[in-house]
Amino acid sequence: MCGIVGYIGEQRASPILLEGLRRLEYRGYDSAGIATLDGNFIIKKGVGRIGKLNDSLKFTDMEGNIGIGHTRWATHGSVTEENSHPHWSCKAEVVLVHNGIVENYTKLREFLISRNHKFSSQTDSEIIAHLLEEAISSHADIKSAILSVVGSLGGSYAFLAMIKEQPDLLIAVRKDAPLVLGIANNSHFVSSDVLSFIDKTNQAIFLDNKEIAFISRNKVQIFDFTGKSIQKKTTTLAWEISDVSKKEYLHFTLKEIHEQPISVRQALAQNEKEVKEIGEILRKTKNVFITGCGTSYHASLLLKYLLAKNLRVRADVFLSSEIDQQKDLIDSDSVVLAVSQSGETADVLNAVAIAKQRGARILSIVNVMGSSLARESYKTLYTHCGPEVGVAATKSFSAQLSVMFLIVVAAAKGSPKDLLALQYHIRDVLATEETVRTISEKYIGANDFYFVGRGDNYPIALEGALKLKELSYVHAEGMAAGELKHGTLALIEQGTPVLLLNPPDETYLPTLNSALELKARGAKIIGISTKRDPCYDDFVPLPAISSTYLFPIVEVVPLQMLAYFTALGRKLDPDYPRNLAKSVTVV
Ligand code: AGP
Repeated sequence: MCGIVGYIGEQRASPILLEGLRRLEYRGYDSAGIATLDGNFIIKKGVGRIGKLNDSLKFTDMEGNIGIGHTRWATHGSVTEENSHPHWSCKAEVVLVHNGIVENYTKLREFLISRNHKFSSQTDSEIIAHLLEEAISSHADIKSAILSVVGSLGGSYAFLAMIKEQPDLLIAVRKDAPLVLGIANNSHFVSSDVLSFIDKTNQAIFLDNKEIAFISRNKVQIFDFTGKSIQKKTTTLAWEISDVSKKEYLHFTLKEIHEQPISVRQALAQNEKEVKEIGEILRKTKNVFITGCGTSYHASLLLKYLLAKNLRVRADVFLSSEIDQQKDLIDSDSVVLAVSQSGETADVLNAVAIAKQRGARILSIVNVMGSSLARESYKTLYTHCGPEVGVAATKSFSAQLSVMFLIVVAAAKGSPKDLLALQYHIRDVLATEETVRTISEKYIGANDFYFVGRGDNYPIALEGALKLKELSYVHAEGMAAGELKHGTLALIEQGTPVLLLNPPDETYLPTLNSALELKARGAKIIGISTKRDPCYDDFVPLPAISSTYLFPIVEVVPLQMLAYFTALGRKLDPDYPRNLAKSVTVV
């Protein structure tokens, strides 16, 4: 979703901001813009991708050593140049970029109209620029003006503002949307994600909720929303996370699918003591809840199965956006384990906040270091799979599952030796790429696709369907194989493709029976298994794995490839699916 960048220092701001925005493209956006201050404000913005906009607008011609930039993912107001950021106030004294939603914007807009403010966009964001201009005119100093602004804003937001009369000041404000400062010699960076400045500095200060940073070339001062000064610690970031190039791959999504042998290995390299501690907490806590959204929810569902089967631990899994239906069950005898790649998903953070209020202890499995979820958690295990740029979660999913397996194996006092072989199994299954590509071409015209699996393979069926939907815009459903006869069979027609997850585990024979039922009704069966059954019309071989419990992590890989190749076959950009954002920071 919206991405924010800011720079103040000795160099020209515009090329730095442009590069910073490029590194935030993965978040998803529909328009973008940059503002610099060089005596007067210069603003360039428009609809479309940053590269194209730069061709026509020439961002890098903009002068000034201070500036802010933004990628917008529309919420209030359609996708137009006027609604894209940066926004300015009436008298052009304030320029601002914003991420989040100002919930009380209608009331604030009415107030500002009564004060003769004129608006040039339909956004809630523009309100903040006008409010700040209004507050500056009626307060003794900038600090009290900004405190009055945050006092009147409702909702979640992160914003960056520049003030014409203060050319050595960037104001950064965070409430429920991420913002991090990059600290370098005589220059400072601000962003929604460290990725946008990690190539310039590895020193970062993560703002917490309800904090305001006054950033000049040589110093940073941080206050809370009451105006109290706060001392923050500087975090040294791992340089490896700066690797956001596509390397030899055509798309980030393909690169990330291929990175899985390595990312799974990295995910498994956890501190043994911490893994055991989390396992013990799950084992001993009366009420265990697991939550996440999208792909992370599918991983959560698999963890529920693993806990039940291997540790006899009962866990409730809920979609984070459904917290209201669960919250009455959560109390101080509860643990909520939240799963998230970004650690910034608003639905997850909201669920965690509610669970915390009710006294629950928060554990998390997160990829992005220093993210809001990690900061809200009692204990976090990081998936360490590196930056995931493709909007579709791929390597983060297998990394989440790897960490989950590790927790369960450790708690069951098993040996993690088998897990270490995962990287080789994934390598083997990646070698089926051409087979998967051919299958994707065969079914390129299909409008509906079904993914079927039993037991631990069911969450993977859900994940396969989600991948196909988001990358190729084909309607897809993930089904528990045993459920087909309770309704979905009615949809099966001559030629309907059904992808069958059928590893040689205890689900093998009953799943094969489901395949026969499907086939009798005309379905085309794409079998994913270690051996080819005559009822399969197409077949993707899985490697032989003696520890059959590992199949879910391995079998998801061909599903990811199928979605990727179907997107290519349908002439779609798999890295940036329409209407979607990588990090969903609104509830
Ligand atoms: C997955 O491919 C999706 N893009 C999406 O469902 C994602 O998993 C979901 O929004 C949760 O994100 P998170 O893991 O960063 O919390």
